[in-house]
Amino acid sequence: MQNTAGTGRAAHWHDTYSRGGDTRVSWFSADPAYSLEMIDAGGADPALPAVDVGAGASRLADALLARGFVDVTVLDVADDGLAHTRARLGADAARLRCVVSDVLDWAPDRRFGLWHDRAVFHFLTEPADRRRYRDLLAAALDPGAVVVVGTFAADGPESCSGLPTARYSAAALAAEFGAGFEVVAQRREEHRTPWDAVQPFTWLALRAR
Ligand SMILES: C[S@@+](CC[C@H](N)C(=O)[O-])C[C@H]1O[C@@H](n2cnc3c(N)ncnc32)[C@H](O)[C@@H]1O
Repeated sequence: MQNTAGTGRAAHWHDTYSRGGDTRVSWFSADPAYSLEMIDAGGADPALPAVDVGAGASRLADALLARGFVDVTVLDVADDGLAHTRARLGADAARLRCVVSDVLDWAPDRRFGLWHDRAVFHFLTEPADRRRYRDLLAAALDPGAVVVVGTFAADGPESCSGLPTARYSAAALAAEFGAGFEVVAQRREEHRTPWDAVQPFTWLALRAR
């Protein structure tokens, strides 16, 4: 069934990128260091498919290609951020699979060894949406897959880009994913926005049991 919130989400994020471009947005990070630290902690295998959900214009795609990940999907509900990534990567963009979809509507055509989500899960404030996300994970992951998720921390912002957010301690975030996942690493980040505001994040690396 089509998730009816998806169209509204696409328009919202299109407007957000139209105003801020790729670098004047609160979540901009020139270096995906925390993502990579968590991916390393989880021991993600570059030979297995990897996906960054809600990838936007994140530099993580560049880093994964540079590290030899052979099958990298970047997914976003709005194409705007992905378009920045394609432009930045030039000819290397052909090595990425770009999917424009609400993650809650997505039917993956392969199983992933790495699932990465920075600052997307925390927008799922409805329990039914989080259930849908977890069902998708169950269908999309290889046994032993690594899930890296970064959300606003328990003392993080209550909203982002005009949308309410859920906030998580490491324990609360691990509980969201449940007993099917083992926590292999956790970390707190004090992300600095381009205008120097601090946004605390909770990071987890999980392994599917
Ligand atoms: C806060 S930004 C983070 C972007 C990127 N992960 C990063 O760290 O730079 C959230 C991104 O998720 C996308 N997004 C939000 N809700 C989504 C959903 N339900 N499905 C897919 N993408 C979504 C937005 O378009 C936006 O690019």
